[in-house]
This record gives sequence, structure tokens and C-alpha cells, in this order.
Amino acid sequence: MGKRSSIITSLRDIAFDLSDGEHPDLASMGREIGRELHARNGEVLASLGALRERRRGFERWMLAERSKPPVSVLVMAWPPDYSTPVHDHGGLWGLEATIAGALEVESFDKGDDEHSLRSSGRTWLGPGDATWFDGAETHAHRCRNLSRHDTALTLHVYGGDLAQYLAYEQPGPSGHWIARPRQSIIAGRLTA
Ligand SMILES: [Fe+2]
Repeated sequence: MGKRSSIITSLRDIAFDLSDGEHPDLASMGREIGRELHARNGEVLASLGALRERRRGFERWMLAERSKPPVSVLVMAWPPDYSTPVHDHGGLWGLEATIAGALEVESFDKGDDEHSLRSSGRTWLGPGDATWFDGAETHAHRCRNLSRHDTALTLHVYGGDLAQYLAYEQPGPSGHWIARPRQSIIAGRLTA
């Protein structure tokens, strides 16, 4: 019997294998990743748990990337209570799954002009749960670590390199949103 792949290699392989087509089946990807995270929970925490102890703020770690077809796989560390701004994903499709802890994800629809955003629902993700979105300019969301004490870890798969995206703020009482370009900063690369 062959040696079983490391958990990092397995997660990468699922993300790569299921994102070969132009319209990947993100529901299947979410199920496969969730199954792996549940079945190998001890290994997951042995490989990635140290990212919860660094206390360096919100961090993005590159797990794997491929250019053809384009896909990137990242792990993110969320300090207690940390919330992202409302943000888009540069038109890429994406999937996020909770590795450890729990996240709230509030989705928004962008209107015809970039100053209008409408909340379209919330979901809550515990360990192994996933949510996803298609490649559309109209999707945005805000994500928050629900714990006030513990760092959460999440796995993200995007249909390309999410180097730049837009973050949205509501600076005044008018309810208008303002979009500002942001750069994704990578803390480092994870190895199998
Ligand atoms: Fe996001």
C-alpha cells in the first residue's frame, strides 16, 4: 500500500482536480474538502495548528497555485473577533471552508453602480463547513471570526490569483458605499 499523501497535498489535489473545467462544481469541492477536514482533523491541526499561535494579526498563507487552469489555494488565520471589510474577489469564483473555529459570512449583491450594495444573507461555518460563490463582478461578502478568544483557520480556493480586490466602506450616513483597491499580502508559503 502506498504512503498516504500529507493533508496539505490532499487538499491541494482536491482543489486542483475539481477546478479543471471552466465552471467548477464548487458544491462537490466543498463536500470533498469538508470530508477530508473531518476525517483527518488530527493531521490538519498538527500541520496547520501553529498558524493559530502566531498572534500576528490576520494572515494569508499560500498553500498552492497553478496557472492553467488558474487556481490558488490559501489558508487564512483570523484573530479573535476579526472582521474583513465588505470585499469582492476581482470577479473570480471562490470557495472557503473552515478548518478550525467558526466564521460568519454575510453576502452582498453589488447594484448597477458601485455605490450600492445590498446584504443578501448570512451563513455560519463551523469546522469542515464550506461556502462558495461563482465568478461574478456582482458578488461581495464580509467574513468575521465568531470567537472572542480563539484564532480561526480557513481554507480558500479561488479561480486565479487574487492579488487585487476591492474593499467597500460606508463613510457617511448617506448609505453610499465607496470602493477602495486593496492588495492581498501573503505571509508565506506552506509546504507539504
Ligand atoms: Fe472573501
